[in-house]
Amino acid sequence: MDKVVIIGSGAAGLSAAIHLAEENVPSTVISEMPSGRAQSNMAEGGINAALDTMGQGDTPALHEAETYKAGRFLACREAVRRLAHAAPDIVRTLFDWGMSLNLTETGQIAQRAFGGQSRKRTAFASASTGKQLMFTLATKARMYEACGMIESRIGWRFLKLVETNGRAQGVLLANTNSNQIAYVPASGVILASGGMNGLFGNATGSVLNKGNVTASLFAEGLPLANLEMIQYHPTTTRLHGKNMLITEAVRGEGGRLYVERNGERLYFMEEKYPELGNLMPRDVVAREEWYWIKQGIQPWLDMRDIPAEVSKNKLAGVLDACHDFLSLDPLQAPIPVSPGIHYFMGGIYVDVNHRTRIRNLYAAGEAACQYHGANRLGANSLLGAIEGGRTAADAAMDDLHGKTSSFQPPAEWLAPACWLAGRKEGANLLSARKQLNLYLQKALGMERNETDLLRCLEQVEKMEAQTDGCYDAQAPVDENVIFPHSLLLAKAILHSALERKESRGAHTRSDCPGEREEYRKTTLSVYAGKAIRTVFQPIEGD
Ligand code: FUM
Repeated sequence: MDKVVIIGSGAAGLSAAIHLAEENVPSTVISEMPSGRAQSNMAEGGINAALDTMGQGDTPALHEAETYKAGRFLACREAVRRLAHAAPDIVRTLFDWGMSLNLTETGQIAQRAFGGQSRKRTAFASASTGKQLMFTLATKARMYEACGMIESRIGWRFLKLVETNGRAQGVLLANTNSNQIAYVPASGVILASGGMNGLFGNATGSVLNKGNVTASLFAEGLPLANLEMIQYHPTTTRLHGKNMLITEAVRGEGGRLYVERNGERLYFMEEKYPELGNLMPRDVVAREEWYWIKQGIQPWLDMRDIPAEVSKNKLAGVLDACHDFLSLDPLQAPIPVSPGIHYFMGGIYVDVNHRTRIRNLYAAGEAACQYHGANRLGANSLLGAIEGGRTAADAAMDDLHGKTSSFQPPAEWLAPACWLAGRKEGANLLSARKQLNLYLQKALGMERNETDLLRCLEQVEKMEAQTDGCYDAQAPVDENVIFPHSLLLAKAILHSALERKESRGAHTRSDCPGEREEYRKTTLSVYAGKAIRTVFQPIEGD
């Protein structure tokens, strides 16, 4: 019987599993931790859909156009069209499944303003939309678990894709506690493993996710796309070793950004962009803040103009987080903010149906490169995860071949020692990871330039040479196997940023200002066993 294996139990993974279950196709969802633990702090402010419940004349076509424009015309237009047109059904379905959403006085799904959008299009659950969405999906998935359509395997990490003759056969997994290795055969594999926060270490999302699945598949030759497109969210605030998200919904409800200059407040976004002001797309707001930060001037996010009732009802999570982590009451004082890594627009290269270049292998959600081009619109991530999961599941079902793979991996693959054979003890991967974080944060910050990128490339190559042939006896087997692949992935990101000699969306090159039409192409990174190749190819459907 056919069975699909899904790596990751975030929004994309559960969306795929539920969609398969609805069509009576069983799946196994693999995750390191229970569903929603890592993802619930994502996308607090909402999920976009042109429901037009606020009567502003919104349409899916307008949603499509604004998503495409915010992505600086680098996304696949057909994928964006499908995303925007599927959105109203997705949000209504989630609501029917019991997702808590704020309602209007007449009982309709309320919608708020969000960045880069000319209409109130963002449905929301106060300031904890991601959490409510994950709760809803997990509940729905559990109903299918109860009848055996979804099997959930918690406490396992991806070790390797098993592939023969260009076809995915299943996956090897490592147990997070015991180091045991298991093989799970599959008719299809959907990668819904999220972004690469832990490669940088200071992102708003869970830094436990180091992008290991992406790194491993890249090392196996799977192409990745648009890796240089890393979204800096304009309103994050520094916590020890991490950045905390202050949702864009604050600005959607009337919060204002300012800097103090000559003893006066300058509302820099409102001054420069009178139409959308504080709600310009994220790349624009982050760059404007950066302009001040470079001069040593702190940007502030001010909630004091928002009626206190609105803040208490619609932004309660922000008030609590500021109180708990910053000892600050945003009803009385402004919040110090700066841009912080929030989302990876690039990732595993997929076509419009979320197929990768390996048969029966699909990718969805933040792990995939789809929908967002060079800059994602706020509140399109949850939407992209749900739509991507559904689309990947549809493609997997179209490709089913009647039975799950009968391929049996050699017995030695299940012995952890086999993966470390030929290496000698001596690496310290924890400290190497921390060092890698710092190198990447510096070179791939808000502004990049050739000198810093080349220096970082050298540093990563040096680290590669130092750790080559070594293993860390304290680290789990998968970390030992995948760490060299992480270095490769880091190099691929650096190469992509070096090769894109323009500034577009989230990718700002101080030495190559402005967009250049010849770079309106997909950056494709491929590893062919010896070297990383970075090429620009026409955007699908262009
Ligand atoms: O600011 C936010 O609430 C984030 C939303 C998103 O990234 O989609």
